[in-house]
Amino acid sequence: MTDTVNTPSIVILISGRGSNMVSIVEAINAGELPVEVAAVISNRPDAAGLNYAQKASIPTAVINHKDFESRDSFDQALAKKIDTYSPSLVVLAGFMRILTTEFVDHFAGKLVNIHPALLPKFKGLNTHQRAIDAGETEHGASVHIVTPELDDGPVVMQAKVPILANDTEQTLAARVLEQEHKLYPAAINQLLNNPNG
Ligand code: GRF
Repeated sequence: MTDTVNTPSIVILISGRGSNMVSIVEAINAGELPVEVAAVISNRPDAAGLNYAQKASIPTAVINHKDFESRDSFDQALAKKIDTYSPSLVVLAGFMRILTTEFVDHFAGKLVNIHPALLPKFKGLNTHQRAIDAGETEHGASVHIVTPELDDGPVVMQAKVPILANDTEQTLAARVLEQEHKLYPAAINQLLNNPNG
C-alpha cells in the first residue's frame, strides 16, 4: 500500500498528447516511482493527454491561455491553481508555454522540464532536425530544473541516442522519445526520493 502521508506529490503540466505524463503514471503504477500525481493541468482544452488522466482517475484541470489577456495573468492563475495542491514538484511534460520569471521564481527549484536535446546543445524548438543538420552523431533528451531563461537550468539527468546515417526528423524523434519515457520517471525519482543520488 502506498504511504500517502510520506509520498511526495507532483503536478504535471501538459499541452498535447502527454506521452511523458503517461510514462510517469505507468512508472508509478509499476511501483517504480513512489510519488502521487495530484493533478494534470493543461493550457489547451483539447490536449489528448487529458483523456488518459481522466480515465486513470487523476484530477485534471484546464487553464486556457486564450482566456487571459496577458502572459502574466495566465501565469498567475496557473500558479494559484497549482498551489492548491502544494506539490513537491511541478513537472512540465510537453507544456508549450513560455513561463514568466515571476512564475519560475514562485516555484524556484521545484519546476522541472524535459527537453528533447542534449542541453546545452539545441535549446528551443525543432531540436531533432537541427541536430541532424549540424552533423551530430549523438542526440538525446535532458531533464533540467527550470530557470527564467529558456532551456537553461541545471541538468538533472540525460539520455543519449545515436544519430544514424539515414535518420529523418521523425525516426530520430521516435528514438529520443523512447528514452524520454524512461528518463523522466528516473529523474523525478532522483529529485524526490534520492536527492543525493
Ligand atoms: C517531448 O518531446 C518533450 O521532450 C518536449 O515536448 C514533447 C512532449 O511530448 N518538451 P508528450 O506530450 O509528452 O508526448
